[in-house]
Amino acid sequence: MNGAPKSTPSAGKSFWEMDEMRIVSGAMVILSGATALLVVMPYLLLKDVRPPVGLKPYTAVQLEGRQVYIASGCVYCHSQQPRDIKQAPDASRGWGRASVAADYAYDTPHLLGTMRTGPDLLNIGARQPSKDWHLGHLYAPRAYSPGSIMPPYPYMFEIKKGAAQPGDVVVNLPPGAAVPGQVVVAKAEALALVSYLLSLDRTYPALAALPISSAASAGKP
Ligand code: HEC
Repeated sequence: MNGAPKSTPSAGKSFWEMDEMRIVSGAMVILSGATALLVVMPYLLLKDVRPPVGLKPYTAVQLEGRQVYIASGCVYCHSQQPRDIKQAPDASRGWGRASVAADYAYDTPHLLGTMRTGPDLLNIGARQPSKDWHLGHLYAPRAYSPGSIMPPYPYMFEIKKGAAQPGDVVVNLPPGAAVPGQVVVAKAEALALVSYLLSLDRTYPALAALPISSAASAGKP
């Protein structure tokens, strides 16, 4: 190449030569592009999303259970986002229709999860509505699902020798798992967690949210 020798003092800079101003303004352009793409666009897309008619806000106990779910790391093994049939056969696994943004209207923070070591739980309340089953499964997953790699959560329960006290919620374990002479009693955190799990039910139609103007007639056919 016969470009100008490097030693020649040049009057103007070439386009690709950097100085502070160019670095800073280049960084600003990239940053504002990323902000537009990752903050502004999602905001514009989602700002009008309203809770679906069929979705109820969480109760205080369910919110407590949600905190137990977060603290216990359930999200490390369980997703809450059934996918479209084009991406995964979730519907035929019985996990429910593909979720939409409105399904998470009351979820802060959302618990979408990325790992699926266990089944998706967004509709577990519809799929498994038994409180007894959930309590027993949390205490001893393998008593319900042989060979399960889900960890048991014994600290959410209290073992009592002999009989239960009035007011105790006794876990009805399957015959093989129950130890004679002792009862397993669910602590408040187990009860709250199960109450949260049972509330997970997005089996209503995906797009049934009504426009604000016709919200007054919500529920009428
Ligand atoms: C190490 C991974 C792991 C963790 C952590 C975990 N699970 Fe699981 N979970 C599984 C696996 C695997 C299964 C499927 C086998 C079974 O039913 O035990 C499962 C099954 C379940 C089921 C039954 C799902 C169905 O469709 O029948 C529920 C409910 C559940 N887990 C809730 C929880 C909750 C609540 C927590 C947190 C307290 C939790 N899991 C933590 C792995 C995990």
